[in-house]
Amino acid sequence: MPAPRAPTLAHYRPETRLVHGGTLRSQFGETSEALFLTQGFVYETAEQCEARFTGDEPGFLYARLANPTVAMFESRMAAFEGAEAARATASGMAAVNAALMGQVRAGDHVVAAKALFGSCRYIVEDLLPRFGVASTLVNGTDLDQWRDAVRPNTRAFFFETPTNPALEVIDIAAVAAIAHAAGATLTVDNVFATPLYQSPLAHGADCVVYSATKHIDGQGRCLGGVVLASEAFIQKHLHHFLRQTGPSMSPFNAWVLLKGLETLPLRVRRQTETATALSVMLAGHPKLKRLVYPGRPDHPQADIVRRQMRGGSTLLAIEIDGGKAAAFRFLNALRLLAISNNLGDAKSLVTHPATTTHQRLTPEQRAELGISDGLIRISAGLEHPDDVAEDVLNALKAV
Ligand SMILES: Cc1ncc(COP(=O)(O)O)c(C=O)c1O
Repeated sequence: MPAPRAPTLAHYRPETRLVHGGTLRSQFGETSEALFLTQGFVYETAEQCEARFTGDEPGFLYARLANPTVAMFESRMAAFEGAEAARATASGMAAVNAALMGQVRAGDHVVAAKALFGSCRYIVEDLLPRFGVASTLVNGTDLDQWRDAVRPNTRAFFFETPTNPALEVIDIAAVAAIAHAAGATLTVDNVFATPLYQSPLAHGADCVVYSATKHIDGQGRCLGGVVLASEAFIQKHLHHFLRQTGPSMSPFNAWVLLKGLETLPLRVRRQTETATALSVMLAGHPKLKRLVYPGRPDHPQADIVRRQMRGGSTLLAIEIDGGKAAAFRFLNALRLLAISNNLGDAKSLVTHPATTTHQRLTPEQRAELGISDGLIRISAGLEHPDDVAEDVLNALKAV
């Protein structure tokens, strides 16, 4: 039984939808969305309770299935993404797991890009095969590899773009066309771009997943995830999987994330300005071997970025000359930017992927993905851009 839905305000621009979309006002007429910290609901009569369970009367039953605050977050996300339906989960990984597991059964085959966040790669490479679902990993930027990987039992394609951490960009429309010709679906992890800069559904993807932990919260407070797709896709693949397995988002986290969405465009645009300024300042720096930034004309997939994305990125990747020792000297010399494995935060964060998010991979697998020991991912925060730039330049002097 669907929970009550607020209007999606589709005729408004994203900024407006992010402030008003999904709001379900209670009888008290509160300005800010109410936080419904309740596991369950009570009914006026036994007949009403029965009608709720049969679906004849819309309403809430139990917070594992739906909760008013979580429903507001889901509606606001659907309005932002331009998707018919959304389901919130306890973390980004719960969203990825549900989106993939919900679609397949033993005997099926999944194709995914190699350049996946470590836990996503674990699901595709290790977990799915344990349940009889074969998987093939391909170089996501090579369309022939997607085509060649298709088997008669291929059911789902999966990739993230821009990729974590090397910021490669994969052509969503081209891979969606290959998936659909094979009778498979395409799920895209849109964490790095956010719905502000990239709309995978509009480019042919069937399903989009987010770690709401990143830009959607944007202030380092809570975990969350969300899956977005057509109503038919959600009903077919996710509705029962999520209700029965229970990776539900807590109402408190949904409330924090709802408020996060209101300021997301302001934060992401400001973070992008800082990341862009860093990319300009650091281009050609003598201590760097490589700089990757999706907004730059020298990005390896600059033409796809222009076609597919509405903005650059809040993240950039730099490769320090001198491997791990030099990278660690740089990290340890930073005074303002914090060493972390998170991203999309108000605080500028730096990550050494080879020893953190991607340390599970072999050195050969990392090399294949451009994750050298000198690679550092910078997530621009909301500090004054000049303070961030000065800290990075000073730390480079220590290399
Ligand atoms: C691209 C990508 N997908 C998924 C996740 C998983 O999200 P969460 O940590 O919220 O489970 C992350 C980060 O952790 C990520 O960077």
